[in-house]
Amino acid sequence: MCGIVGYVGHSQALPVILKGLHRLEYRGYDSAGVALLDAEGKLNVYKCKGKVAELERHLEGKDSFGTIGIGHTRWATHGEPNDVNAHPHFSESGELALIHNGIIENFRVLKDALIQNGFSFRSSTDSEVLVNLIEYIRKTNGCTLAEAVRIALKQVVGAYAIAVIEKGNPDEIVAAKQSSPMVIGIGKDEYYLSSDAASIIDYTNEFVYLNDGEVAIINRNNPLHIVKLSGEDSPVDIKKLELSISQLEKGGYPHFMLKEINEQPQTILDCIRGRISPDTGEVILSGILDNMDKFLNAKRIIIVACGTSWHAALIGERIIEEFCRIPVEVEYASEFRYRNPIIHSDDIVVAVSQSGETADTLAAVELARKAGAFVYGICNVIGSSIARATDSGTYIHVGPEIGVASTKAFTGQVTVMAMMALVIGKALGTLPEETYLAVSKGILGLPELIAQTLKMSDQIADLAKIFTYAHNFIYLGRGYNYPTALEGALKLKEISYIHAEGLPAAEMKHGPIALIDAEMPTVAIATLDQTYEKTISNIEEIKARGGKIIALVSRGDDLARRSADYCLEIPQTVECLMPILSSIPLQLLAYYIAVYKGRNVDQPRNLAKSVTVE
Ligand code: F6R
Repeated sequence: MCGIVGYVGHSQALPVILKGLHRLEYRGYDSAGVALLDAEGKLNVYKCKGKVAELERHLEGKDSFGTIGIGHTRWATHGEPNDVNAHPHFSESGELALIHNGIIENFRVLKDALIQNGFSFRSSTDSEVLVNLIEYIRKTNGCTLAEAVRIALKQVVGAYAIAVIEKGNPDEIVAAKQSSPMVIGIGKDEYYLSSDAASIIDYTNEFVYLNDGEVAIINRNNPLHIVKLSGEDSPVDIKKLELSISQLEKGGYPHFMLKEINEQPQTILDCIRGRISPDTGEVILSGILDNMDKFLNAKRIIIVACGTSWHAALIGERIIEEFCRIPVEVEYASEFRYRNPIIHSDDIVVAVSQSGETADTLAAVELARKAGAFVYGICNVIGSSIARATDSGTYIHVGPEIGVASTKAFTGQVTVMAMMALVIGKALGTLPEETYLAVSKGILGLPELIAQTLKMSDQIADLAKIFTYAHNFIYLGRGYNYPTALEGALKLKEISYIHAEGLPAAEMKHGPIALIDAEMPTVAIATLDQTYEKTISNIEEIKARGGKIIALVSRGDDLARRSADYCLEIPQTVECLMPILSSIPLQLLAYYIAVYKGRNVDQPRNLAKSVTVE
């Protein structure tokens, strides 16, 4: 979703901002803009609908000098994507320029009050209301910009990360955040600002993550100063982030998504590194071990997540229940937060989020904490809001995921939840030693089996050609692979725009089988597991009605091969880990179909990588 980049120092701000905005493009956006303050104190704003490349064209020949500036990519919430609604927004007098991520929920009330005080508005955005509110307070109170921002934000209900600059104040950016990410990069007599540390990693690896309700006064002549909305000073806590630039580039692949799919042998290795002993198979997850009393006494685990992370959570639910015998509930974070859920102090709430910034998941975490539950995070992005808001957690360590469609994060999340279940199940005594060892050995073997699975890429590309023009797809799975079917369908719809539905295979005859005809292909996951024979019967029922079947089967399984029209054979591992292998051909199938349809694979329409608004 919206991205923020800012710079104040002694170099030209524009190249830093544009490079940062390019790095944020993967998050999804529909317009872009910059505001620059030049040495004479002139404030120039340039913005337009479209990509950062269009902004660059728009900037050609314009006065774009300045060693202080802010830039933005906007994902429309209030008001259509157009030049006027793009950020930065000027205040009425033209003295302030502001960029904003998030949603101001009470913007209508604030706007009406400002109109009564003589303000008028050019755009339909909530953000323009905020910049004018700051200006109004600045003028009526005769206070500093930072003070005006602080007072204004006390009146604001909603989520925001903002940055403001001011004509005649050429050394300072004022930034603030509430429920939307904001990080300040520390350089030598210079500062960088971003909604995502990865976008400014070229310049520094020292960062200060702003906390909710903090306002930062970022002045090139002074040390960083942070105040709370209450006016008290906040400590400045500098953290080091190790991230290599090559992780943010395509490395020879045509798309980030294909790169990330192919990285999975390595990302799973990174995810388990130092966590499973190759000699003894012992699993060590410090986040769990340090809080074992909580897990040993938990009456229930509630997992909250959205989208692909929710699918991973459904697999986690099955593994934890099987190995730990603790009841697990999986909730869409967006539903959980609004339905007054019953949360006890001996419940554990686990939040699963690749970005660690998903607004609904973050809100669910806050709700669970208020209710007194112990909250555990499974995130990928180090230092993200959810990682910081939880009591403890485990990073999946799969590296930056840039393609909007989540792939390596999904397999990392399932791997972490499998390791968690082993550690907790062992401590509880609910897990036989031989199962523990078989699964931990299975996890150690995943990188090799994933590498073997990826060799099917060409076969899947050929298959994708046959199905590129399908209008609908059904994905079927059972047991551990039912969530994989949901995930396969989500991958296809989000990047190819083909309608797809994931279902538990046995549900077909309760209604959906009516959809089956020669035009409705079915992807059936029929690997060797507890319900294998039953899935084969479900496949036969579809075949009998003229449906085309693509079956995902265990290597060497002839029976399934005979039942299907097309067969994809994958290696076999322990049952609970099969979704990690079976999801990979489905990622590739979605990828190739989308490529053949000419879709923008890494940035599908209407989608954003990091869903920071609800
Ligand atoms: C789909 C996808 C989304 C995310 C969802 C949650 O490929 O990526 O469904 O899984 O938006 O995002 P995180 O995991 O960042 O909380």
